[in-house]
Amino acid sequence: MKHIIAPSLLAGDFLHLSESLDMINESQADWLHIDIMDGRFVPNISFGQVLMPFIKKGCNKPLDVHLMIEEPANYIDEFVDLGAEVLTVHYEADRHLHRTIQRIKDRGIKAGVAINPHTSVDLLDDILEEIDLVCVMSVNPGYGGQKFIYQTIPKVKKLRAKGDERNLKFHIEIDGGVGAQNAEALLQAGADVLVAGSSVFKAEDPLKMIERLKAINSPF
Ligand code: DX5
Ligand code: ZN
Repeated sequence: MKHIIAPSLLAGDFLHLSESLDMINESQADWLHIDIMDGRFVPNISFGQVLMPFIKKGCNKPLDVHLMIEEPANYIDEFVDLGAEVLTVHYEADRHLHRTIQRIKDRGIKAGVAINPHTSVDLLDDILEEIDLVCVMSVNPGYGGQKFIYQTIPKVKKLRAKGDERNLKFHIEIDGGVGAQNAEALLQAGADVLVAGSSVFKAEDPLKMIERLKAINSPF
């Protein structure tokens, strides 16, 4: 299997949402990344349940929903019902992560855990067996268009080594500041899902940029 490209809609044009979604449908993107922010877990507020049905209707790729919200367990069923196919909650936002992960998996979709730049991958040691995806944040969550934090690359390597050692097949998603300039290094480090917001939507030719990211040689 080739690596996965998941453009982040946060950088899309909300005045012409259907055009952004048409572009994704036409493209080689594998998933569409949806950033939900509550103004509590992160300083920013993005969009929420009201927009989801429109995105779901307009997009024919799987929706990779990234919940940057406190107490995400309260919203699991709602986002599954709204069409999420991958649902990721933050390690830092949930006291009962194991239960939340089970709840997501019981609904038959992929369960992800995201970690902030300051959170050690070692903290996932006791839950790695349960999860389908780890989202390694390479910016402080809350905003698109930020600078990639290079210290995240060793975290990705360490996580991939843990997976290999334990023969686990979870995805490693890298989110924030990802683009043509660092994609290859990230894939080589062991990430197999690249989230790309600004680098895709602000590119002169977004379709070509997705194609370019997809065409990079990777170990996957
Ligand atoms: C940040 C979000 C990211 C963001 C990525 O809080 O989780 O998914 O949209 O955007 P870029 O690629 O522009 O850094
Ligand atoms: Zn995200």
